Amino acid sequence: HPSNSQMEGGSVLERANCRAKGGAPGFKVAILGAAGGIGQPLAMLMKMNPLVSVLHLYDVVNAPGVTADISHMDTGAVVRGFLGQPQLDAALTGMDLVIIPAGVPRKPGMTRDDLFKINAGIVKTLCEGIARCCPNAIVNLISNPVNSTVPIAAEVFKKAGTYDPKRLLGVTMLDVVRANTFVAEVLGLDPREVSVPVVGGHAGVTILPLLSQVKPPCSFTKEETEYLTKRIQDGGTEVVQAKAGAGSATLSMAYAAVKFADCCLRGLRGDAGIVECAFVASQVTELPFFATQVKLGRGGAEEIYQLGPLNEYERAGLEEAKKELATSIEKGVSFIRK
Ligand code: NAI
Repeated sequence: HPSNSQMEGGSVLERANCRAKGGAPGFKVAILGAAGGIGQPLAMLMKMNPLVSVLHLYDVVNAPGVTADISHMDTGAVVRGFLGQPQLDAALTGMDLVIIPAGVPRKPGMTRDDLFKINAGIVKTLCEGIARCCPNAIVNLISNPVNSTVPIAAEVFKKAGTYDPKRLLGVTMLDVVRANTFVAEVLGLDPREVSVPVVGGHAGVTILPLLSQVKPPCSFTKEETEYLTKRIQDGGTEVVQAKAGAGSATLSMAYAAVKFADCCLRGLRGDAGIVECAFVASQVTELPFFATQVKLGRGGAEEIYQLGPLNEYERAGLEEAKKELATSIEKGVSFIRK
């Protein structure tokens, strides 16, 4: 690879390539948008994941720098960098999992939907590459607005004839991570002991935490329910405002993305009983996409779970979420169809 071989001479890289090819156990993972605020810590954490044997870092800027830096970590994964559109296909060929945090983030006063104009085109281009070069890869889509970019990706794959709804997952794990944290705070528990299902989508009122289904079983007052629901829904905006123009969540997002990617890889390996929330093609509601708990396996989201019993507050929230989601999904679909 040019950026590495220029620096180090062919032989070191040949040995690394040999190690990668020689069946070092593990999966091949690409990060698209790897030089960004999410991409960099995500690349670092994936380099630390023992399930990863090859890590491809692609961006339109600064990929060689991030790659050189990360490649010095003494963990197993072989790291290669790819810069700009002409190297997209090489970045994607042979990948088992593709994680996409490419695109612009929010600034104060913006909704995730305001990002549509720029990010829709970026996601389209990247997914065309996936359809060409690694149509069987699992895709973890992080770029916002997730409620629209997942339908965009689906339409691109349909057009290319490669669409497998089980392998396309919108990443809503950060909503779950936040929900676990905030709920644990209220209950006075360690967040690691708490599990909150968050369903619907990934924007404002479409983020629907199911506080009646928290594990361990517990109950909340009306005030606590309203406080927690709102804080979970506005978690992203809390960070956007605190960063005051410097972007949105990157570090907690990278953590959440790696937590989710690790579950996908363990599913690919054949581990049993891996259940996480994700925004996927779904028949749980009348909408074509919806976030619920899914079982991750060799084929991706192999099973999609029903919502389970909702209380009155959650049923009202669900109706609101569905209205907004329907519009966002339609916007994504028509971006490709028109
Ligand atoms: P950033 O601006 O720091 O990084 C984005 C990276 O994407 C940059 O390095 C940029 O060069 C790269 N990029 C732009 N166009 C590209 C293309 N065509 N191909 C490849 N790379 C390209 O933004 P940040 O903070 O990393 O956020 C990235 C995205 O993630 C945003 O859309 C943001 O809204 C979203 N996000 C999603 C969350 C979720 O829960 N799903 C949470 C937080 C952010």
